Amino acid sequence: MTKAFSETSSVMDEREMRSQLARYREIVDARLNDLIPQESNAPESVHSAIRWSLFAGGKRFRPLLLLATGQEFGARVDGLLDTACALEMIHTYSLIHDDLPSMDDDDLRRGRPTCHVRFGEATAILAGDALQTLAFQTIAEDENLSPEVRVRLVSEVARASGTPDGMVAGQAHDLAAESREVSDDELERIHQLKTGALIASASRSGAIIAGVNETELASITRYSAALGLLFQITDDLLDVTATAEDLGKTPGKDARSRKATYPALYGLDSTRERAHAAYTEACAALDEIERPMPTLRAIAGLILERRA
Ligand code: IPE
Ligand code: IPE
Ligand code: MG
Ligand code: MG
Ligand code: MG
Repeated sequence: MTKAFSETSSVMDEREMRSQLARYREIVDARLNDLIPQESNAPESVHSAIRWSLFAGGKRFRPLLLLATGQEFGARVDGLLDTACALEMIHTYSLIHDDLPSMDDDDLRRGRPTCHVRFGEATAILAGDALQTLAFQTIAEDENLSPEVRVRLVSEVARASGTPDGMVAGQAHDLAAESREVSDDELERIHQLKTGALIASASRSGAIIAGVNETELASITRYSAALGLLFQITDDLLDVTATAEDLGKTPGKDARSRKATYPALYGLDSTRERAHAAYTEACAALDEIERPMPTLRAIAGLILERRA
């Protein structure tokens, strides 16, 4: 057992944790299957493209984080599930567009040819657009939640996905940084925006649905900001160290595209130290919360050590 996990094992057994996450993954996939139009529905090309990208074995990290956060604060899965699925829709849309020739120009994703390689660029763009709108529709129509909570979640997730403080802004800064040097602060900001913001909104949404108080929400915001940064630092590391088979995407692309990444700016050893610092910060934020939060602590350990 590796260190970050053994630190948390007194509060949650690793096997128990993994089977809990596997259960979450199953219910998320089943619900996504209900929410997404069938391939046989017109326009067949768009629905086939959405399903190609969505049901290709993603880790479902954002929905898992939302469910885990909500449940640690006592919410029922019923009230959490549709927003969890909405986060996965937005994330998958971001991957489809991220892979386009005019963005990162990737041809492998989740172990398959990318959406535009399989279905053409126009259909891939529309599949991404449709996933995004379906995400907001799913939250707005969730009858397990009060209208007030739905509106709050739509606002939360829209801010995290868009601009100036969300994923779209991060993607724009990421592309602009390919052709110039960035400072330490700029790189952290790019990572916080392009990846951290949506991850933070997943955890915050779980907490909002559970009805936490402002103090608890502030701690979850601090936790999930550190976790989101950690997630992208480890994504950068894996681009250097992992295989296509493990990742389901082509490694080595960041260096070839002269991306602004942690390994490019700091080297591998310092990047690992920075990942550990983000993990420590995430755990420190959880210490502020009066409940024990074993699942969220374990999730931070899993992200620090992830191999895919
Ligand atoms: C990849 O996300 C893109 C980033 C934001 C770093 P994931 O590593 O969560 O990809 P999937 O969903 O498991 O395919
Ligand atoms: C991902 O950053 C950011 C978003 C998809 C929003 P990357 O471009 O590093 O993600 P991968 O490595 O292609 O999955
Ligand atoms: Mg990118
Ligand atoms: Mg990319
Ligand atoms: Mg990457």
